[in-house]
Amino acid sequence: MPATIVVGTQWGDEGKGKFTDLVAKEMTAVVRYQGGHNAGHTLVVDGETFTLQLIPSGVLYDHITPVIGNGVVVDPLVLITEMDMLTSKGVDCSNLLVSGDAHLILPYHQQLDALHERHLGVNKLGTTKRGIGPAYADKAMRVGLRVQDLLDAKIFRQKLDAVLGQTNKILAKVYNRLPLDADEVAAQFLDEYLPRIHGHIGDSIGFVHGSLAAGHHVLFEGAQATFLDLDYGTYPFVTSSNPVSGGACTGGGIGPLDIERVIGIAKAYITRVGSGPFPTELFDDVGDLLVDLGHEFGTNTGRRRRPGWFDAVMMRHAVRINSVTEIALTKIDILDTLETVKVCVAYDVDGVRHETMPWHQSDLHKAKPIYEELPGWQTDLSGFTERSQLPANAIAYIEFLEQQCGAPIHLVGVGPGREQYLHFAA
Ligand code: GDP
Ligand code: IMO
Ligand code: MG
Repeated sequence: MPATIVVGTQWGDEGKGKFTDLVAKEMTAVVRYQGGHNAGHTLVVDGETFTLQLIPSGVLYDHITPVIGNGVVVDPLVLITEMDMLTSKGVDCSNLLVSGDAHLILPYHQQLDALHERHLGVNKLGTTKRGIGPAYADKAMRVGLRVQDLLDAKIFRQKLDAVLGQTNKILAKVYNRLPLDADEVAAQFLDEYLPRIHGHIGDSIGFVHGSLAAGHHVLFEGAQATFLDLDYGTYPFVTSSNPVSGGACTGGGIGPLDIERVIGIAKAYITRVGSGPFPTELFDDVGDLLVDLGHEFGTNTGRRRRPGWFDAVMMRHAVRINSVTEIALTKIDILDTLETVKVCVAYDVDGVRHETMPWHQSDLHKAKPIYEELPGWQTDLSGFTERSQLPANAIAYIEFLEQQCGAPIHLVGVGPGREQYLHFAA
């Protein structure tokens, strides 16, 4: 069972990129299993920052085969631009494998994403406007185009004509926009993009199973996070795929029994970008401090992330639905200066204490956090590499989270750099 999954346990941007890179050292391949270029995963290696949207975070190692799985939605131009960016920084992308089953993001998907958002007005979801929702909607409607369609010009054109036949009517009649020209789109995808990615398209599922059968360790990298999951998240304020660990089965090509470890990535506080309920959200100076010190601005969109205290109710839920076997706690260093640190241990909903996630979302909107307040450590942790160096109050905070969340914390991040972490597990 040599498959390991890295999954976001909150609302994204927990530090999945950094920890995928870290764990990938021991693996032979890293497979992205869902989402698209709505993700922004940051790696900081030897002082150089890499921001990845589509290509798996293991790409920096020569021994890793990076795989874009069947569950991902791919904008080929973004993929090409990312490959070029990496190549210009000396990173070899030649063994990148892109699943032929992954779906394509077409130009109108981004247009529809922005138009839907505008149509929703104050009720907008705050999407990244990358076309993710409309691309997955086409997939579910069974009119999407897949990466493998690029390899058969006739099929590609047939499917494109079929989908544009309908979409162009929507663009023109509902949104008063110009229709897309099928010749132009086909030329862009088949003549411009295909020659650049042709050699990378292949059978990701066969590759994954060949690796697992050979006893190799394969890492599955989730994008977004548990509470942005289409099924488990705070619907409708979610993304359109399944970031939870189960998504690695539908989007990465494995079965449940292939999975050995599920590493839940959790920030030592919480952030959220876009709309939706957020019980522990902070609107005060502490929130501003977390945003400032944590550089909490969207990796792709530059939007300010909404800050809040760590929410153990959510985390307990995330541990259960992802079968988290261990937690990697990130950005604890951002709390270094605080006199006290709060953790939400339960919700008060209309005077009733909830220790588990309320099943009805209206209750989550009304939930008032019940906090435990712990003493801060007021020590710079960013240079520490061993548990024994941690001040007692930092250890007490981490142990409190372990006890609250119901899973052991194995790794603790103390800075953005690849080396800035320590093993917490005894
Ligand atoms: P992802 O989407 O989950 O991969 O996370 P992002 O890359 O969007 O955001 C996480 C940010 O925190 C990035 O800028 C990382 O470089 C940074 N980061 C990750 N782990 C740590 C940590 O332990 N401490 C600090 N200070 N920064 C971290
Ligand atoms: P990573 O992988 C944080 C949010 C958007 C919006 C909602 C739907 O870097 O953690 P979408 O464009 O997916 O239809 O937007 O999901 N969102 C993210 N928030 N981190 C991400 O990715 C996100 N990807 C999407 O802000 O609220
Ligand atoms: Mg991110």
